[in-house]
Amino acid sequence: MKKISLRSSRIKPSPHRRLVAKVDELLKSGRTVYNYSAGQPGLPPDEELIRDFYDKLVKNPFNHFRYVSTKGLYELREAIKEDLRRYGGFDVDPEDIVITSGGVEGMNLSLITTTDPGDEIVLLDPTYSVYWDLAEFYGLRVRKCGQVIDEGFQPSGECLKESISRNTAAVIVVSPDNPTSRIIREDLMKLIADLCIDNDVWLIYDEAYKHVVYEGEHVWIQRYSRTMEKLISINSFSKDVAIPGFRVGYTYAPKEVINEMVKIKGLLSITSPVPGQWFAYYALTSGIKEKYLSKVIPIYKSRRDALYDALKKHLPEAKVWKPPASMYLFPDMTPYLEKLGMNDIDFTYQLADRRGVVMLPGSIFGDHGNNHLRITFVTQPEDKLRKGIEIMAEFINELEKT
Ligand SMILES: Cc1ncc(COP(=O)(O)O)c(C=O)c1O
Repeated sequence: MKKISLRSSRIKPSPHRRLVAKVDELLKSGRTVYNYSAGQPGLPPDEELIRDFYDKLVKNPFNHFRYVSTKGLYELREAIKEDLRRYGGFDVDPEDIVITSGGVEGMNLSLITTTDPGDEIVLLDPTYSVYWDLAEFYGLRVRKCGQVIDEGFQPSGECLKESISRNTAAVIVVSPDNPTSRIIREDLMKLIADLCIDNDVWLIYDEAYKHVVYEGEHVWIQRYSRTMEKLISINSFSKDVAIPGFRVGYTYAPKEVINEMVKIKGLLSITSPVPGQWFAYYALTSGIKEKYLSKVIPIYKSRRDALYDALKKHLPEAKVWKPPASMYLFPDMTPYLEKLGMNDIDFTYQLADRRGVVMLPGSIFGDHGNNHLRITFVTQPEDKLRKGIEIMAEFINELEKT
Protein backbone atom coordinates (compact mmCIF):
# COMPACT_ATOMS: atom_id res chain seq x y z
CA MET A 1 0.00 0.00 0.00
CA LYS A 2 1.75 3.11 -1.23
CA LYS A 3 0.06 6.27 -0.01
CA ILE A 4 0.43 9.76 1.35
CA SER A 5 -1.07 10.13 4.80
CA LEU A 6 -4.25 12.04 5.37
CA ARG A 7 -2.49 13.77 8.25
CA SER A 8 -0.03 15.30 5.80
CA SER A 9 -2.18 15.82 2.71
CA ARG A 10 -4.88 17.54 4.77
CA ILE A 11 -2.52 20.50 5.29
CA LYS A 12 -2.67 22.86 2.33
CA PRO A 13 0.53 24.47 1.02
CA SER A 14 0.74 27.75 2.83
CA PRO A 15 0.57 31.00 0.77
CA HIS A 16 2.92 32.32 3.47
CA ARG A 17 5.78 29.98 2.46
CA ARG A 18 4.88 30.22 -1.25
CA LEU A 19 5.15 34.00 -1.26
CA VAL A 20 8.38 33.97 0.74
CA ALA A 21 9.77 31.46 -1.81
CA LYS A 22 8.53 33.69 -4.64
CA VAL A 23 11.07 36.33 -3.62
CA ASP A 24 13.92 33.95 -4.51
CA GLU A 25 12.16 32.91 -7.72
CA LEU A 26 11.77 36.55 -8.82
CA LEU A 27 15.35 37.42 -7.89
CA LYS A 28 16.65 34.42 -9.82
CA SER A 29 14.82 35.61 -12.93
CA GLY A 30 16.58 38.98 -12.63
CA ARG A 31 13.58 41.03 -11.45
CA THR A 32 13.80 43.91 -9.00
CA VAL A 33 12.00 42.77 -5.86
CA TYR A 34 10.38 44.84 -3.13
CA ASN A 35 10.39 42.32 -0.33
CA TYR A 36 7.87 42.90 2.45
CA SER A 37 7.28 39.19 3.04
CA ALA A 38 9.24 37.32 5.76
CA GLY A 39 9.98 38.75 9.20
CA GLN A 40 13.65 38.85 8.28
CA PRO A 41 15.86 41.05 10.50
CA GLY A 42 16.95 44.20 8.71
CA LEU A 43 20.62 44.09 9.71
CA PRO A 44 22.91 41.04 9.99
CA PRO A 45 24.18 39.90 13.40
CA ASP A 46 26.90 41.95 15.00
CA GLU A 47 30.23 41.64 13.13
CA GLU A 48 32.34 41.44 16.29
CA LEU A 49 30.20 38.54 17.45
CA ILE A 50 30.60 36.71 14.13
CA ARG A 51 34.41 37.09 14.22
CA ASP A 52 34.62 35.96 17.81
CA PHE A 53 32.37 32.99 17.06
CA TYR A 54 34.50 32.05 14.05
CA ASP A 55 37.70 32.13 16.12
CA LYS A 56 36.18 29.93 18.79
CA LEU A 57 34.81 27.53 16.20
CA VAL A 58 38.21 27.12 14.56
CA LYS A 59 40.00 26.72 17.88
CA ASN A 60 37.63 24.13 19.24
CA PRO A 61 35.54 22.58 16.47
CA PHE A 62 34.77 19.42 18.40
CA ASN A 63 33.02 21.33 21.16
CA HIS A 64 30.92 23.33 18.70
CA PHE A 65 29.83 20.45 16.47
CA ARG A 66 29.18 17.64 18.95
CA TYR A 67 25.82 16.36 20.15
CA VAL A 68 24.60 18.00 23.34
CA SER A 69 21.73 16.91 25.58
CA THR A 70 18.24 17.15 24.09
CA LYS A 71 17.34 19.84 26.60
CA GLY A 72 20.15 21.93 25.15
CA LEU A 73 23.54 23.37 26.01
CA TYR A 74 23.69 23.93 29.75
CA GLU A 75 25.75 27.12 29.38
CA LEU A 76 23.04 28.61 27.15
CA ARG A 77 20.23 27.66 29.51
CA GLU A 78 22.15 29.32 32.37
CA ALA A 79 22.64 32.44 30.22
CA ILE A 80 18.90 32.49 29.41
CA LYS A 81 18.09 32.30 33.12
CA GLU A 82 20.30 35.38 33.69
CA ASP A 83 18.75 37.16 30.69
CA LEU A 84 15.21 36.56 31.96
CA ARG A 85 16.17 37.77 35.42
CA ARG A 86 17.68 40.90 33.91
CA TYR A 87 14.81 41.79 31.59
CA GLY A 88 11.81 40.18 33.25
CA GLY A 89 12.90 40.25 36.88
CA PHE A 90 11.88 36.65 37.58
CA ASP A 91 13.68 33.32 37.99
CA VAL A 92 13.47 30.25 35.80
CA ASP A 93 15.34 27.07 36.66
CA PRO A 94 17.65 26.15 33.70
CA GLU A 95 16.24 22.63 34.10
CA ASP A 96 12.83 24.02 33.07
CA ILE A 97 14.17 25.40 29.78
CA VAL A 98 14.45 23.42 26.56
CA ILE A 99 16.46 24.79 23.64
CA THR A 100 14.41 24.40 20.46
CA SER A 101 15.04 24.57 16.73
CA GLY A 102 13.55 28.04 16.46
CA GLY A 103 10.37 29.19 18.14
CA VAL A 104 8.40 27.05 15.71
CA GLU A 105 9.64 23.84 17.31
CA GLY A 106 8.55 25.22 20.68
CA MET A 107 5.10 25.83 19.20
CA ASN A 108 4.90 22.24 17.98
CA LEU A 109 6.22 20.75 21.21
CA SER A 110 3.78 22.84 23.25
CA LEU A 111 0.78 21.56 21.32
CA ILE A 112 2.03 17.97 21.10
CA THR A 113 2.56 17.74 24.84
CA THR A 114 -0.55 19.53 26.08
CA THR A 115 -3.31 18.63 23.63
CA ASP A 116 -4.98 15.61 22.07
CA PRO A 117 -7.01 15.48 18.84
CA GLY A 118 -10.46 16.96 19.46
CA ASP A 119 -9.28 19.27 22.24
CA GLU A 120 -10.27 22.91 22.14
CA ILE A 121 -7.80 25.79 22.03
CA VAL A 122 -8.40 29.54 22.01
CA LEU A 123 -6.65 31.68 19.41
CA LEU A 124 -6.77 35.42 18.95
CA ASP A 125 -7.75 36.19 15.36
CA PRO A 126 -5.70 37.24 13.41
CA THR A 127 -2.70 35.37 14.72
CA TYR A 128 0.60 33.95 13.37
CA SER A 129 -0.55 31.77 10.46
CA VAL A 130 1.41 28.69 11.56
CA TYR A 131 -0.88 28.33 14.60
CA TRP A 132 -3.90 27.75 12.34
CA ASP A 133 -2.03 25.08 10.38
CA LEU A 134 -0.83 23.43 13.58
CA ALA A 135 -4.37 23.37 14.97
CA GLU A 136 -5.46 21.58 11.80
CA PHE A 137 -2.46 19.25 11.85
CA TYR A 138 -3.02 18.23 15.47
CA GLY A 139 -6.81 17.90 15.03
CA LEU A 140 -7.70 20.70 17.45
CA ARG A 141 -10.95 22.64 17.60
CA VAL A 142 -10.43 26.40 17.68
CA ARG A 143 -12.43 29.06 19.47
CA LYS A 144 -11.39 32.51 18.48
CA CYS A 145 -11.51 36.03 19.78
CA GLY A 146 -11.23 38.71 17.12
CA GLN A 147 -8.75 41.58 17.19
CA VAL A 148 -9.76 44.51 15.00
CA ILE A 149 -7.86 47.54 13.81
CA ASP A 150 -10.34 50.02 15.37
CA GLU A 151 -9.52 48.58 18.80
CA GLY A 152 -5.76 48.69 18.21
CA PHE A 153 -5.98 44.93 17.62
CA GLN A 154 -6.77 44.20 21.28
CA PRO A 155 -9.10 41.24 21.94
CA SER A 156 -12.31 41.90 23.83
CA GLY A 157 -12.43 40.95 27.48
CA GLU A 158 -16.00 39.70 27.01
CA CYS A 159 -14.96 37.27 24.30
CA LEU A 160 -12.07 35.99 26.41
CA LYS A 161 -14.40 35.40 29.37
CA GLU A 162 -16.89 33.55 27.16
CA SER A 163 -14.27 31.46 25.40
CA ILE A 164 -11.86 30.30 28.11
CA SER A 165 -13.44 27.59 30.23
CA ARG A 166 -12.79 24.20 31.82
CA ASN A 167 -13.19 22.79 28.28
CA THR A 168 -10.17 24.70 27.01
CA ALA A 169 -6.85 22.88 26.70
CA ALA A 170 -4.72 25.94 25.91
CA VAL A 171 -4.90 29.62 25.07
CA ILE A 172 -2.29 31.02 22.69
CA VAL A 173 -1.29 34.66 22.94
CA VAL A 174 1.36 36.25 20.72
CA SER A 175 2.74 39.55 22.06
CA PRO A 176 4.23 41.64 20.59
CA ASP A 177 2.09 40.26 17.84
CA ASN A 178 2.48 38.87 14.38
CA PRO A 179 0.78 39.99 12.11
CA THR A 180 -0.70 43.02 13.93
CA SER A 181 2.40 44.09 15.92
CA ARG A 182 0.29 45.17 18.90
CA ILE A 183 1.45 44.70 22.47
CA ILE A 184 -1.35 43.09 24.45
CA ARG A 185 -2.83 45.40 27.06
CA GLU A 186 -1.60 44.42 30.51
CA ASP A 187 -5.09 44.22 32.02
CA LEU A 188 -6.23 41.89 29.23
CA MET A 189 -3.17 39.69 29.68
CA LYS A 190 -3.88 39.53 33.41
CA LEU A 191 -7.46 38.58 32.64
CA ILE A 192 -6.24 35.78 30.37
CA ALA A 193 -3.80 34.58 33.05
CA ASP A 194 -6.58 34.62 35.68
CA LEU A 195 -8.94 32.71 33.40
CA CYS A 196 -6.21 30.13 32.72
CA ILE A 197 -5.45 29.73 36.44
CA ASP A 198 -9.12 29.50 37.45
CA ASN A 199 -9.99 27.00 34.72
CA ASP A 200 -6.77 24.98 34.81
CA VAL A 201 -5.79 25.86 31.25
CA TRP A 202 -2.30 26.13 29.69
CA LEU A 203 -1.28 29.63 28.67
CA ILE A 204 1.02 29.43 25.66
CA TYR A 205 2.72 32.82 25.41
CA ASP A 206 4.67 33.43 22.23
CA GLU A 207 7.28 36.07 23.02
CA ALA A 208 9.37 35.85 19.83
CA TYR A 209 9.29 39.66 19.52
CA LYS A 210 9.76 40.57 23.20
CA HIS A 211 12.80 42.78 22.50
CA VAL A 212 11.44 44.41 19.34
CA VAL A 213 9.61 47.27 21.06
CA TYR A 214 9.56 50.96 20.06
CA GLU A 215 7.06 52.46 22.49
CA GLY A 216 5.69 51.05 25.73
CA GLU A 217 6.90 47.75 27.18
CA HIS A 218 6.67 44.03 26.67
CA VAL A 219 4.18 42.52 29.12
CA TRP A 220 6.03 40.18 31.49
CA ILE A 221 3.04 38.21 32.72
CA GLN A 222 5.52 35.89 34.47
CA ARG A 223 5.69 38.45 37.29
CA TYR A 224 1.99 38.05 37.96
CA SER A 225 1.27 35.65 40.78
CA ARG A 226 0.72 31.96 40.00
CA THR A 227 1.02 32.49 36.23
CA MET A 228 4.19 30.38 36.09
CA GLU A 229 2.16 27.29 37.08
CA LYS A 230 0.28 27.52 33.80
CA LEU A 231 2.74 29.29 31.53
CA ILE A 232 4.49 27.83 28.49
CA SER A 233 6.70 30.59 27.11
CA ILE A 234 7.93 30.35 23.52
CA ASN A 235 11.02 32.31 22.50
CA SER A 236 13.27 32.75 19.51
CA PHE A 237 16.74 34.08 18.72
CA SER A 238 15.64 34.72 15.11
CA LYS A 239 14.63 38.33 15.72
CA ASP A 240 16.69 39.79 18.59
CA VAL A 241 20.01 38.08 17.82
CA ALA A 242 19.13 38.07 14.09
CA ILE A 243 19.92 34.42 13.37
CA PRO A 244 16.72 33.01 11.83
CA GLY A 245 18.76 30.64 9.65
CA PHE A 246 20.60 29.16 12.63
CA ARG A 247 17.33 27.79 14.01
CA VAL A 248 17.62 28.43 17.74
CA GLY A 249 14.97 29.36 20.25
CA TYR A 250 13.84 28.21 23.68
CA THR A 251 10.75 27.31 25.62
CA TYR A 252 10.26 27.22 29.37
CA ALA A 253 7.37 25.68 31.22
CA PRO A 254 6.54 23.71 34.36
CA LYS A 255 8.67 20.56 34.74
CA GLU A 256 5.83 18.19 33.87
CA VAL A 257 5.60 19.78 30.40
CA ILE A 258 9.36 20.17 29.87
CA ASN A 259 9.95 16.48 30.65
CA GLU A 260 7.42 15.52 27.98
CA MET A 261 8.89 17.99 25.50
CA VAL A 262 12.38 16.56 25.93
CA LYS A 263 11.06 13.05 25.31
CA ILE A 264 9.34 14.12 22.07
CA LYS A 265 12.18 16.37 20.90
CA GLY A 266 14.48 13.36 21.25
CA LEU A 267 12.34 11.67 18.60
CA LEU A 268 12.17 14.67 16.30
CA SER A 269 15.62 16.22 16.22
CA ILE A 270 17.76 14.86 19.13
CA THR A 271 19.17 18.34 19.67
CA SER A 272 18.96 21.81 18.11
CA PRO A 273 21.88 23.11 16.00
CA VAL A 274 24.80 23.18 18.43
CA PRO A 275 26.87 25.88 16.65
CA GLY A 276 23.75 28.04 16.80
CA GLN A 277 23.36 27.36 20.52
CA TRP A 278 26.93 28.52 21.13
CA PHE A 279 26.34 31.60 18.98
CA ALA A 280 23.28 32.50 21.04
CA TYR A 281 25.30 31.89 24.22
CA TYR A 282 28.05 34.28 23.09
CA ALA A 283 25.40 36.88 22.14
CA LEU A 284 23.78 36.72 25.58
CA THR A 285 26.95 36.72 27.64
CA SER A 286 28.97 39.38 25.81
CA GLY A 287 26.49 42.28 25.92
CA ILE A 288 26.32 42.06 22.15
CA LYS A 289 22.61 41.34 22.09
CA GLU A 290 22.09 44.75 23.74
CA LYS A 291 24.54 46.36 21.35
CA TYR A 292 22.71 44.90 18.36
CA LEU A 293 19.29 45.92 19.67
CA SER A 294 20.36 49.47 20.46
CA LYS A 295 21.58 49.74 16.87
CA VAL A 296 18.57 48.23 15.09
CA ILE A 297 15.61 49.46 17.14
CA PRO A 298 15.95 53.15 16.06
CA ILE A 299 16.43 51.99 12.45
CA TYR A 300 13.35 49.75 12.57
CA LYS A 301 11.36 52.54 14.20
CA SER A 302 12.15 55.00 11.49
CA ARG A 303 11.42 52.35 8.83
CA ARG A 304 8.06 51.77 10.49
CA ASP A 305 7.33 55.50 10.31
CA ALA A 306 8.44 55.69 6.69
CA LEU A 307 6.16 52.80 5.70
CA TYR A 308 3.24 54.21 7.68
CA ASP A 309 3.62 57.62 6.02
CA ALA A 310 3.93 56.05 2.57
CA LEU A 311 0.72 54.06 3.07
CA LYS A 312 -1.13 57.15 4.30
CA LYS A 313 0.10 59.15 1.34
CA HIS A 314 -0.36 56.69 -1.52
CA LEU A 315 -3.32 54.64 -0.27
CA PRO A 316 -5.47 57.16 1.63
CA GLU A 317 -8.54 54.91 1.70
CA ALA A 318 -6.72 52.12 3.54
CA LYS A 319 -7.08 51.93 7.31
CA VAL A 320 -3.60 51.94 8.80
CA TRP A 321 -2.59 51.60 12.45
CA LYS A 322 0.90 52.45 13.67
CA PRO A 323 2.02 49.68 16.03
CA PRO A 324 4.37 50.10 19.02
CA ALA A 325 6.42 46.93 18.38
CA SER A 326 7.35 43.96 16.18
CA MET A 327 8.02 44.07 12.44
CA TYR A 328 4.76 44.50 10.53
CA LEU A 329 2.05 46.94 9.47
CA PHE A 330 -1.32 45.33 8.91
CA PRO A 331 -3.50 47.78 6.95
CA ASP A 332 -7.13 47.09 6.11
CA MET A 333 -7.40 47.39 2.33
CA THR A 334 -11.17 46.72 2.07
CA PRO A 335 -12.10 49.85 0.04
CA TYR A 336 -9.52 49.05 -2.64
CA LEU A 337 -10.06 45.29 -2.79
CA GLU A 338 -13.84 45.75 -2.97
CA LYS A 339 -13.46 48.12 -5.91
CA LEU A 340 -11.19 45.60 -7.62
CA GLY A 341 -13.50 42.68 -6.80
CA MET A 342 -10.46 40.77 -5.61
CA ASN A 343 -9.57 38.94 -2.42
CA ASP A 344 -6.32 39.59 -0.58
CA ILE A 345 -4.73 36.29 -1.67
CA ASP A 346 -5.27 36.89 -5.41
CA PHE A 347 -4.14 40.48 -4.98
CA THR A 348 -0.82 39.57 -3.32
CA TYR A 349 -0.04 36.90 -5.94
CA GLN A 350 -0.74 39.34 -8.79
CA LEU A 351 1.20 42.13 -7.14
CA ALA A 352 4.20 39.81 -6.73
CA ASP A 353 4.05 38.34 -10.24
CA ARG A 354 3.35 41.55 -12.11
CA ARG A 355 5.21 44.16 -10.08
CA GLY A 356 7.75 42.26 -7.94
CA VAL A 357 6.20 43.69 -4.76
CA VAL A 358 5.87 40.81 -2.30
CA MET A 359 3.71 41.04 0.84
CA LEU A 360 1.44 38.57 2.60
CA PRO A 361 -2.36 38.33 2.42
CA GLY A 362 -4.03 39.05 5.76
CA SER A 363 -6.54 36.21 5.51
CA ILE A 364 -3.87 33.55 6.09
CA PHE A 365 -3.65 34.94 9.64
CA GLY A 366 -7.36 34.29 10.29
CA ASP A 367 -10.81 35.47 9.20
CA HIS A 368 -10.31 38.83 10.90
CA GLY A 369 -7.33 39.37 8.62
CA ASN A 370 -9.50 39.28 5.49
CA ASN A 371 -8.74 42.15 3.11
CA HIS A 372 -5.67 43.14 5.13
CA LEU A 373 -2.04 42.96 4.05
CA ARG A 374 0.91 42.03 6.24
CA ILE A 375 3.75 44.33 5.29
CA THR A 376 7.17 43.80 6.88
CA PHE A 377 8.87 47.12 7.53
CA VAL A 378 12.22 46.09 9.01
CA THR A 379 13.92 44.38 6.09
CA GLN A 380 14.38 47.15 3.51
CA PRO A 381 15.79 50.67 3.61
CA GLU A 382 13.33 53.56 3.71
CA ASP A 383 13.59 54.63 0.06
CA LYS A 384 12.84 51.08 -1.06
CA LEU A 385 9.98 50.78 1.42
CA ARG A 386 8.43 53.94 -0.05
CA LYS A 387 9.03 52.96 -3.65
CA GLY A 388 7.30 49.58 -3.30
CA ILE A 389 4.20 51.24 -1.86
CA GLU A 390 4.16 53.75 -4.69
CA ILE A 391 4.33 50.86 -7.17
CA MET A 392 1.50 49.06 -5.35
CA ALA A 393 -0.69 52.20 -5.47
CA GLU A 394 -0.04 52.59 -9.22
CA PHE A 395 -0.86 48.91 -9.74
CA ILE A 396 -4.18 49.34 -7.93
CA ASN A 397 -4.93 52.39 -10.06
CA GLU A 398 -4.25 50.48 -13.24
CA LEU A 399 -6.39 47.53 -12.16
CA GLU A 400 -9.24 49.92 -11.29
CA LYS A 401 -9.19 51.25 -14.83
CA THR A 402 -9.33 47.86 -16.54
C1 LIG B 1 5.00 34.95 16.47
C2 LIG B 1 6.09 34.06 15.98
N1 LIG B 1 6.39 32.98 16.70
C3 LIG B 1 7.35 32.15 16.31
C4 LIG B 1 8.05 32.37 15.15
C5 LIG B 1 9.06 31.36 14.75
O1 LIG B 1 10.32 31.87 14.60
P1 LIG B 1 11.58 30.95 14.57
O2 LIG B 1 11.14 29.53 14.37
O3 LIG B 1 12.41 31.46 13.44
O4 LIG B 1 12.24 31.14 15.89
C6 LIG B 1 7.77 33.48 14.36
C7 LIG B 1 8.49 33.75 13.10
O5 LIG B 1 8.31 34.70 12.41
C8 LIG B 1 6.74 34.35 14.79
O6 LIG B 1 6.40 35.43 14.08
